[in-house]
Amino acid sequence: MAGLLERVFYSAPGKAVAGGLGLAEPPVLRRGRTAPDGPVALASLAGSELVAETLRYLGVTTVGAVSDDGSEATYPQRIGALVVDARGLRRIDELERVRAVLRPAMKALNGSGRVILVAEAEVDGVEAQAVRQALDGIMRTVGKELRRGATANLVLVAPRTAPSDLASTLLFLLEGRSAFVDGQAWTVGPTLRDAAPETSPPKGPLATGIPGARGQFGGETAAPLAGRIVVVTGAARGIGAQIATVAARDGARVACVDMPAAGEALAALANDLRGTALQLDVTAPDAGERIAAHVASRYGADARIHGIVHNAGITRDKLLVNTDADRWAQVLAVNLAAELRINPVLLDGRPGGLADGGRIVGIASTSGIAGNKGQANYAASKAGVIGLVRAEATELAGRGITVNAVAPGFIETEMTARIPFVQREVFRRANSLAQGGQPVDVAETIGYLLDPASGGVTGQVVRVCGQNLVGA
Ligand SMILES: NC(=O)c1ccc[n+]([C@@H]2O[C@H](COP(=O)([O-])OP(=O)(O)OC[C@H]3O[C@@H](n4cnc5c(N)ncnc54)[C@H](O)[C@@H]3O)[C@@H](O)[C@H]2O)c1
Repeated sequence: MAGLLERVFYSAPGKAVAGGLGLAEPPVLRRGRTAPDGPVALASLAGSELVAETLRYLGVTTVGAVSDDGSEATYPQRIGALVVDARGLRRIDELERVRAVLRPAMKALNGSGRVILVAEAEVDGVEAQAVRQALDGIMRTVGKELRRGATANLVLVAPRTAPSDLASTLLFLLEGRSAFVDGQAWTVGPTLRDAAPETSPPKGPLATGIPGARGQFGGETAAPLAGRIVVVTGAARGIGAQIATVAARDGARVACVDMPAAGEALAALANDLRGTALQLDVTAPDAGERIAAHVASRYGADARIHGIVHNAGITRDKLLVNTDADRWAQVLAVNLAAELRINPVLLDGRPGGLADGGRIVGIASTSGIAGNKGQANYAASKAGVIGLVRAEATELAGRGITVNAVAPGFIETEMTARIPFVQREVFRRANSLAQGGQPVDVAETIGYLLDPASGGVTGQVVRVCGQNLVGA
């Protein structure tokens, strides 16, 4: 019945009825390593050169966005993105400069365009802090007002951040990889330490590093993970399968982990990606030992993991009033306790463990940020992932290991296909992009965090939710 309802809703007559109800057809989002549709406009508002230097480093040519006499900007043509360097703004009256570049951009921006605000993570003084927070409010509102798949995000830059530290974040936000990341703010700082050396020589001319750094903005040939080993749990289907696929596209050798019951799909994926498969329940007491042993036996005793993505997850939804100890324990065991047990094992220096300079990525959820009716166990586990990531980021900074989480909103997978249709349609639409995200959107964000060039991004939670109203 639900399937029939969905087919009718998405048929031509169904779409006409939906249009009549004010439910416009969702825009098709620009995805992948694609450049914006049109030039990138740059507005440096208070003398900071960091963003201009970073875009130069990336090989991105820009058009100016500030008029000479300080009045509202005019853009020479339609634009694909506007990047605003708001570092150095300290006074409330200076926020007018932000309005003056944003207002015309709201009209000039093409579909799947980008508004990227850049501000300081740390500022002194009451007014300066109010101004910094005001930028957050502006960005969130712009994200809600933009149309046709365009997004707005805010990057907070810590002191002593260099263009090479900021580059991977600006590149990710400009490219189609960030299609479903909207209305978010996160912090970038100086690179902790150079990522671990590759375990085998890179292949091809653009095998490592940021493609744009070599003057090639966008492009499918980038392979920042060339030669590196990435472990993905829950890889047999859904988001995990896409994480593994994107990591392999980016050059990684992928070890795909999932339950024995999913062994067939797991083997097929590992085969397609020229990776390896490990049948393992991540809640097994020796899960960490078995992952390291698998890596050492399949990739060599000297091999080390560059990145592990703790994606395996389950739901056992019920109102708390109906949640027994079993439902509670199962969800916490898979979604949180497994990660907490596996990480220390991989960090103890054993063969096949995580390399210094490596990457740990956890999967949280908007339910873990805002709570969700019927998901007390799930929200506990996903909020727990956020706590874990922040604590481990601090603990592991000295080893150059970054620890981050992504928090997906509504993503089209088998997990969400189980939600009743009408409720599902409401979840789908309740965000600024008026659609559910695709597994690849989560995977691309994880790819950005796994990138050796993202060594200045740690302890962060990046929502991949299209600016979902949940917890907004
Ligand atoms: N789909 C969404 O909208 C959404 C939203 C927020 C967060 N998430 C999170 O994203 C992750 C992936 O979700 P999905 O929608 O792809 O789910 P899914 O159910 O489609 O896939 C989950 C995979 O994890 C595997 N798995 C489950 N328990 C395991 C265990 N004990 N050991 C090893 N593997 C195990 C399953 O076999 C399956 O292949 C989960 O952590 C989920 O909580 C999903």
